Amino acid sequence: MSKLGDKIKEIRINEGLSQEAFAKELGYTSKSTINKIEKGINEISYDKLMLLIDKYNLTLDQIFENSSNNIPLPKNTNSNLYISFSARSNGNSENIIKYMMNDNDTFISFKDLFINQCNKCNYECMTINKCKYRHDDIYYLLNNCIMYNKIIFVVPMYCGNPSSLYFTLMERMQDYFNNNETNYPTFISKLHIIGIYGSNEETPLFIPFISSILDNIDKCLPIQRHKYEIKMNDLVINNKYILSLLDTYKVKMGL
Ligand SMILES: Cc1cc2nc3c(=O)[nH]c(=O)nc-3n(C[C@H](O)[C@H](O)[C@H](O)COP(=O)(O)O)c2cc1C
Repeated sequence: MSKLGDKIKEIRINEGLSQEAFAKELGYTSKSTINKIEKGINEISYDKLMLLIDKYNLTLDQIFENSSNNIPLPKNTNSNLYISFSARSNGNSENIIKYMMNDNDTFISFKDLFINQCNKCNYECMTINKCKYRHDDIYYLLNNCIMYNKIIFVVPMYCGNPSSLYFTLMERMQDYFNNNETNYPTFISKLHIIGIYGSNEETPLFIPFISSILDNIDKCLPIQRHKYEIKMNDLVINNKYILSLLDTYKVKMGL
């Protein structure tokens, strides 16, 4: 269950409403949408969330209380934060991270965060200088990540491009760093990126693209599957050359 799903269920029950009645109140055609939202299968849209707040006289803070728990703080000053931009659990990104992590490091799967995408807004961050999604996990993520020793993104390639989750973060960072400019150099100085893809021959712009945000291209580790004849569904960490690449990178970057 998602934390937001739990909260929405709690609100419905406090109002004494069945899923069916609640769906009607919020303008959904069927109770199954409410069921999916409560279970964390579907996300509630921003507009429906605003309607819910209005109808039941709530505040965003009440809805999102404790949601910062999705983004743990570092356990100690040496803790690193690994973020997977993979769309699946237990794929290559997650396995690379599990291989690299030290005991006090933290792993976050970006796909499991509560994130609103920029396509549902109307440039509020530019016009009223305040993104309307500030209560989702992006703000907590960006606030907390710079407290870590190092931040390591693991970005897989899907269909010739970096995972769309990576773009989601890049877009949402605009508002955060516009308003927290002084945190940007710290964020960049801590940032490292591991890219998983087929080969430079096939997609020569993948690594230059994902590393364009870094202050030093050496902080990007390319994992080229084709070079080691690793197929799309194979686990890259079963290959001894990949493990050696990861070990060397870990030492070189002081991870
Ligand atoms: C929808 C989809 C599209 C993909 N497209 C490419 C591609 O264009 N080039 C490539 O080298 N690998 C591609 N892959 C392979 C992924 O890069 C590879 O499976 C990688 O392990 C993904 O990371 P993950 O396992 O952490 O999700 C694709 C995989 C998926 C699921």
